[in-house]
Amino acid sequence: MRITYVVGARPNIVKMAPVLRALRRRMPAADHVLIHTGQHYDRLMSEVFLEQFRMPLPDHMLGVGSGTHSEQTARVMAGLEACFRDERPDLVVVSGDVNSTLAAALTAAQLGLPLAHVESGLRSFDRTMPEELNRRLTDHVADHLFVHCADAQENLLREGIPAERIVFAGNTMIDSLMAMEPIFRNRDAAGRLGCEPGRYLLVTLHRPALVDGPLLLEVMEELRRLSGQVEVLFPVHPRARLTLEGRDFGRRVRLLDPLPYVDFLSLEADAMAVLTDSGGIQEETTFLGVPCFTLRNNTERPITVSHGTNTLLGLEPARIRDMLSALEQPPPRVAPPRWDGRAAERIADVIGHRYGAAPNASPFARASA
Ligand code: UD1
Repeated sequence: MRITYVVGARPNIVKMAPVLRALRRRMPAADHVLIHTGQHYDRLMSEVFLEQFRMPLPDHMLGVGSGTHSEQTARVMAGLEACFRDERPDLVVVSGDVNSTLAAALTAAQLGLPLAHVESGLRSFDRTMPEELNRRLTDHVADHLFVHCADAQENLLREGIPAERIVFAGNTMIDSLMAMEPIFRNRDAAGRLGCEPGRYLLVTLHRPALVDGPLLLEVMEELRRLSGQVEVLFPVHPRARLTLEGRDFGRRVRLLDPLPYVDFLSLEADAMAVLTDSGGIQEETTFLGVPCFTLRNNTERPITVSHGTNTLLGLEPARIRDMLSALEQPPPRVAPPRWDGRAAERIADVIGHRYGAAPNASPFARASA
C-alpha cells in the first residue's frame, strides 16, 4: 500500500500534517510519500511550516513556483503525472482548495487513482474565486470526501455526491491548532513584539480581490486611522508585499514578515480581534473564541458566522471603522462538533479500514494484471 500526500501552499501543510501523522501510525507497513508542489516557495511560507510540524522532508519537490492559475495548475499536473507514474500510489490525499489541490485531483482522476479530499464540501457560491472552482471540481472527482461541518455535507449531497463517499471526520486544521496549544499559549509572541495581550488588532490579507487592486491602500488608510485607538499587527503575505513595501502607515501599524505557525497562533489567541480575508483564520478564531471580521462578501464557512465569532464586513474598507464598537460583547468559546483534535484519527480509521486489507488495490497493478 502506498499513499501519496500532495501539499503546495501554506494552509495545505496545516491541514495535512495531522493526517500524515495519523495514517503513518494507523498503517505503519504502508509507504507514505510526501510531494510538495512548490506553489509556495519562500522559506517563511513553506520550509518553516514543514519544520514546525516536524513533517518529513518531501520525497518530491516539484518547484512549480508562481504563475497564472492555468500556468500553475498545468505545471503541477505535468510534474505530478510523472511522479504518480513513478510512485504508483494506491491512494492520493489532498487538502483544501488551492491550485495545487485541484491539479493533484485532476491528475489522480486522469490516472484512475483513488483520491481522498480533506476539507471537502465548503462552498462560497462565488464562482469568481479560484478556490471555489478548485474545491468544487476536486470534490467531484474525489472518492473519499472528508467534511468538517454539517453544511459541507449538505452541499455535497445537494450536488449529487453519493452519501457513502462522504465522511464527517472533523477539522484537521483544529487538530493542528490543538496539538500546538501548549506551545503557543506560552509563546507570548505579542510580548516579544512589545505589545500587550488583548490590546492589538491582528490583520491578514492576501486575496486578489483585496490586495491586487486599490482596495488594499484604502484598508491601510482605515487601519492608520484605527491605530489611534488600538495597535495594529499585520504579517504581510508575499502577494501584498509589493504594494506595501516602502510605505508608511504610522508608527502603530506594524508590518511584519509572514510568521511561523506557532507565533501566528499565539498572536491570534491573544488578539483583541482579527481582521482577515483568509478562510482558515475564520475557523481558528471560532475555535479560540476571538472576534473575527472578514473583509469579504461571502464565506464558504458559514458556521463561523452562526457561531457568533465571525462578522462579514463585505469588500468595504469603510466598515473597519465600526469594528471596535462591535467588540463590546465578546463571542462565546464553543467549538463546533468534531473540532476536537481527533479529525485526522477518524480519517485514518476510515482509510485504514477501506484500504488496510486490500493489497494489490492499485489501478496500475490491476491494469497490468
Ligand atoms: C494561495 C491560494 C489561496 C490560499 C493562499 C494561502 C490559490 C488559487 N490560492 O494564494 O487559496 O489562501 O495560497 O497563502 O491557490 N509568492 C511569493 N512567495 C511564495 C508564494 C507566493 O512571493 O512563496 C507571491 C508571488 O508573487 C505569487 C503571489 O505571491 O505570484 C501569489 O501566490 P499564489 O501561490 O499564486 O497564491 P496565493 O495568493 O499565495
